[in-house]
Amino acid sequence: MAELAIRVARAADLAAATSLLRAAGLPVEDFSEDLIGNFLVASTGPSVVGCIGLEPLSNVGLLRSLAVDPDFRDGGVGRMLVRELEAHASRLGINELWLLTIDADGFFSRLGYRVQERDKAPAAIRRTAEFSLLCPDDAILMKKTI
Ligand SMILES: CC(C)(COP(=O)(O)OP(=O)(O)OC[C@H]1O[C@@H](n2cnc3c(N)ncnc32)[C@H](O)[C@@H]1OP(=O)(O)O)[C@@H](O)C(=O)NCCC(=O)NCCS
Repeated sequence: MAELAIRVARAADLAAATSLLRAAGLPVEDFSEDLIGNFLVASTGPSVVGCIGLEPLSNVGLLRSLAVDPDFRDGGVGRMLVRELEAHASRLGINELWLLTIDADGFFSRLGYRVQERDKAPAAIRRTAEFSLLCPDDAILMKKTI
């Protein structure tokens, strides 16, 4: 099997990333080419097997759209995508990452993310489509200082 690589997404990855997100039950309504420059993909040869995205909002960022192909789970791909996204965010001058998740809080807490009250989110995060529209009210809000 080709080696796993993590790289910045390209427009040509949009369709594959959208199918991964749909299959994982994650929102794709606001996923478009405008966001792709802040998405990373995990690939093996020509196949995209994982993705993750960042919405940079000044010095804070929304980590979103993390999904790994079920055939590639439990091999560290999710963790690698989060680490690379943190490095990418850091290079952009972001020092706080926020995310919403329905049931992956256990996964993120092992990577240093901590649950926050929903009203603690900075205004810029609250204004994102994901925060205000796409996630149900019971989604768990988490934060990590990077
Ligand atoms: C969450 C997800 C990205 C993890 O990807 P992955 O490549 O399997 O992750 P890793 O291999 O790096 O880590 C796997 C570890 O996380 C744990 N884990 C995976 N999903 C978990 C969850 N929802 N809750 C708690 N722990 C979880 C696994 O049990 C495994 O634990 P182990 O190391 O003790 O065996 C993947 O399960 C996925 O795509 N889920 C559906 C989409 C989703 O929930 N995305 C996050 C919302 S933004």
